[in-house]
This record gives sequence, structure tokens and C-alpha cells, in this order.
Amino acid sequence: MQSNVRPETMERITTPALAEAFIAEQIALVKEQVGDKKVLLALSGGVDSSVVAALLIRAIGKNLVCVHVNHGLLRKGEPEQVVKVFRDEMNANLIYVDAVDRFLDKLAGVDEPETKRKIIGAEFIKVFEEEARKLEGIEFLAQGTIYPDILESDAGVKAHHNVGGLPEDLQFELVEPVKLLYKDEVRVVGKALGLPDNMVYRQPFPGPGLGVRCLGAITRDRLEALRESDAILREEFAKNGLAGKVWQSFTVVPDMRATGIKDGRRTYAWPVIIRAVNTRDAVTATVENVPFELLQHITARITSEVEGVNRVLYDLTPKPSATIEFE
Ligand code: XMP
Repeated sequence: MQSNVRPETMERITTPALAEAFIAEQIALVKEQVGDKKVLLALSGGVDSSVVAALLIRAIGKNLVCVHVNHGLLRKGEPEQVVKVFRDEMNANLIYVDAVDRFLDKLAGVDEPETKRKIIGAEFIKVFEEEARKLEGIEFLAQGTIYPDILESDAGVKAHHNVGGLPEDLQFELVEPVKLLYKDEVRVVGKALGLPDNMVYRQPFPGPGLGVRCLGAITRDRLEALRESDAILREEFAKNGLAGKVWQSFTVVPDMRATGIKDGRRTYAWPVIIRAVNTRDAVTATVENVPFELLQHITARITSEVEGVNRVLYDLTPKPSATIEFE
């Protein structure tokens, strides 16, 4: 296993050639570490786990077993993209777990943000554990740990094991090929491995996903309004050159309704809140100055295309006093 300290001599990976050299080196190291044994990976479709998956597919092919848990709190199209990219295009050994009902049933009626987070985290471990127990001959667990995770966990900020919490009898040796890389380097490597841009340059997305953006107790209809409005926002930001510029952008659906009018009739429906912020480290954040005409266009689309929504609001609050997320 590699050390957890990045050597001072290690060159920053900024070019395809440097990425290729890194990939070749890691393929050799992974082969040496795992031989012909099987490796398990929780593949969320986020940048880090996707890059690890693509790298390990090159190194050990079908001996990598990827488990994608669809907990129903991912953005529109994301679970489908994981299947398309990894199973269809990279020929990965991918287990797709539809756990949507399971998560949403567990979350029904729960409105406290930290309790929601805990339920989502604990249920994830449970689903993953169940899948792991069904498999035979797994000796290794791959993880998309990156260097900031190690630095933060050394400082006691957070546990860097993404799938930490597996029971005692289910402990595997770790395979963490990108653990000495910074995020920008992971992206360069992902690009060199042929992952699509919308995966490689994906915004940070919280582990509990849309669960903390569907405020209060999650309901399926409000979650659907959230997913659809978020997809419209993403599409419009991409079309108008904001996708690569804004650090994080998303919609939120609060657990409240307001009056409105549609086709001459009174409605009593949800507002959608748009948030678009810029930051270096997520500790403080400023609000993106989105052109007013674009906000009006997005408002028109969301209120006409998304079921159950009659208003759109833009959050003007920097961090502090707000946080980036609403929960
Ligand atoms: P806040 O809301 O605290 O968010 O200003 C700062 C950054 O952290 C992300 N975030 C999370 N990420 N699990 C995660 O993996 C979480 O529970 C979580 N909560 C917030 C948030 O999206 C933002 O980038």
C-alpha cells in the first residue's frame, strides 16, 4: 500500500501526458496489490468514484465489481448515465441496485435535517453490506479517497472512508489509487480515461443528494418537482455558459405552498428556490450575478413545465449568513 503522504517531488498532474503516466503507474501498482482477486467499489457516479472505477476497469477488468445504489436522491439522468457509461461502454461488472422505495419509505415523515442525513448514510451502508454479502471471493474494497480527504481526516475534520461503517466481519483491504491527488488532478486523469465531461467536471454534490434540497419531510411528488426543476436549471445554465463558471447551482423545494393562478384558476402550490454560488473552499460563498433575463426564462420554464410549482425565487444570500445548502 502507498503511504498517505504526498511526496514533495510529486509533479502536479496538469496534462494528458502526465495523466497517462499516472494511469500506467497505478495500473501496475493495483495489479501488484490485488493480483487476480476481486475488488468491490461503491460507484456513486461522482467524479472520484467514477475515476477509480475507470482506472480499475483498465487494470483488472471484470474483477472489479461496481455497486451503484440508486437511493432515489440523485439528479435526473444520473443513475442511467452510470449504467450507460460503465456497463454499456466500459463493459464493467456493474450491479445496479434500485433502492428508491427503501430509502423513501425510511425517510417518510422525517423532517429534521441531521436525522435525514443519518438515515440516508445508515441505509446506504446497509444496502451496500447486503450486496457485499451476496458476493463471493471479494478481498479488496476500492474507494475514491482523494488527498483533501486525507488532509481533512488527519485534521480530525471528517472520516475519509466513504464506505466507513461496514461491520467488523466485512472488512476489506483498501485500494485507493487516487488518494494522493487533488481534485483538479482527478479530473485530468478522468478525462484521460475517457469519462464524459459532464461526469469529470461535475459540481460538488452532497452525499445525501436531493434529500437535503427537498426540505423537511421528503414526499415523492415534491422530490419529483425538485428533480425536474433542477434539470431545467442545469440545462439552461449549460446552454448559457454558466455551467462551468458557477461553482454550485441547484434548486430547492421547501415544504410550503403559496397561492398562484394557472389558466384563470387559483392554485396553491410549491415555490422553487434557485441557488447559484461561487466559492473557493465552501467556507464562504458569494452569489452568482445571473442575468435577470435568464432568471425570467428559467422561471417561465419551471412554472410551466414542472407539476405542482407556481413560483420561482432566487436566493440572494451569501455564506454567511446562509449556508450553501438549505439543510
Ligand atoms: P454548506 O451548506 O455547509 O455546504 O454551506 C458546504 C458544501 O458542503 C456540501 N455539503 C455536503 N456534502 N454531505 C456531503 O457530502 C453532506 O451532508 C453535505 N452537506 C453539505 C454542500 O453541497 C457544499 O458544497
